[in-house]
Parts: sequence; C-alpha cells; structure tokens
Amino acid sequence: MPDRRPYLAANWKMNKTVEETDAFLAEFLLGAPGPDGPEVVICPPFPALKTAAELCAQSAVRVAGQNMHEAESGAYTGEISGPMLAEAGATAVVLGHSERRQLFGETDEALARKVPAALAAGLEPILCIGETEEERDGGETEAVLERQLVADLAAVDGELDRIVVAYEPVWAIGSGRTATPEQAQQAIAFVRELVRRRSEPAAEHIRILYGGSVKPDNAAELIALPDVDGALVGGASLDPSDFAAIVSAAG
Ligand code: PGA
Repeated sequence: MPDRRPYLAANWKMNKTVEETDAFLAEFLLGAPGPDGPEVVICPPFPALKTAAELCAQSAVRVAGQNMHEAESGAYTGEISGPMLAEAGATAVVLGHSERRQLFGETDEALARKVPAALAAGLEPILCIGETEEERDGGETEAVLERQLVADLAAVDGELDRIVVAYEPVWAIGSGRTATPEQAQQAIAFVRELVRRRSEPAAEHIRILYGGSVKPDNAAELIALPDVDGALVGGASLDPSDFAAIVSAAG
C-alpha cells in the first residue's frame, strides 16, 4: 500500500472576509495537525489570502487560491496570476472547479494551459473533475472523467504526482447528496487508472480527493476508501469545528 499523506482542502468559495478568516484560523489553528498529520489546505477568497498565509505561517497548514489565469501578467481585467498567488503566500491553487466550469465558462482548453502555469509558478494544482447528474444517468461518468483529465493534463510532462485531483460529482456539490462510498471509490479508482496509463509511479503517489457534501459524519467512511486520499470540502469547511472534525477523520 503506497504511503499517500491524507489531504484535506477547505474550499470557502465566495465566503469569509479578512476579519472572518482571522476568526476562523484563530480557532482552527489551535487544534490543527502538525507536519506528521494530514495535509491541510485552506482556500480563502483572494483578498484574505495573504492574511491567511501569515496566520498559518507557524503551522503546517497551507493556503491556496481558488482560481488563476494562465498568463503571468497582462491585460486581463479581473484576473489573478500564479506568481501573484505565490507572492501572497499560496502554495496551491484550485483549478477547474465545477462552479467555474458551469458559471464562468472555464474550459478544458484553458485548464490545459492553467495546470502547467500553476506548476511553473511553484503552485500545486488541485484539479477538479466530475460528471453532472445527467451524465451519470446516461452512463457517461467514466467518459467525462477521462475527457476532462486527459485534456486538462495534456501539457503536463513528468510532474503528474505534483498534482492533486479532486473528483467532485457535480450533483453532490452543495446538495447534501454525497456520493455513496461505492460510487466514490469506483470513480476515484478509475481516475487513478487514467493516471497509471501515463505513469505507474505517479498513479501510486498522486493524491485523489473526493468532494461533494463531505460532512463530519460521513468523512471517515469516504476517506477510508482504498483510493480516496482525502477531501475537498465546501460548506462544512466554513465552520472551524466541523472542518476540524473532518480533518481528524483523516488522521
Ligand atoms: P460542498 O462543496 O462540500 O459544499 O458540497 C464541495 C466543493 O464544491 O468543493
């Protein structure tokens, strides 16, 4: 059994001001795991990133952006680049979240440029993939996962295990409808198989997370599945004690 360190990411989406970030971390960091525990990554909105990174500096907790543009700088109003995230203290970035794909027109073509740009900026990409309910009902889950993963990682060469993949079935996000352990295990084992087609060692080392209505009462069962290496948590990560309970479920 490969030794993959559990990985828990808190995707706050468009929630928490700087003041609220400060209050969350004042509580959460008291019980946060050290360097030998599960890896914990907080993804605040951009304005709170630097504060979060400073507050986490004396801990093993890291911070991540929720999106980035592939260029380093330029005339892209409203966008933010990898080097800017890194300068603010982020060490990772969420890419391809289904809300970005569905609400903001994020494409696999753009992701194929963003993933290598994140790596070049020294950031660990947390690449989200997942099927809609319609696609699952139509028996297309594996085809969708394959299409997204192959396209999004097309320009990555030799650094596959520096990437974290989050399998997030769109129908489970924010809906309270968690995937069953069988559904999560099956999809994530398939994603690992896709990575194995490119590199056997990378497939053993890459962390693949489950995301979609992870809560303190279902986290342990999901994270204990053989191919599930952690969770990307939305709603339940907004409360420090709920997120701490999810983190301890992995520890
Ligand atoms: P949820 O969100 O935990 O609120 O379902 C997960 C996500 O969008 O990453």
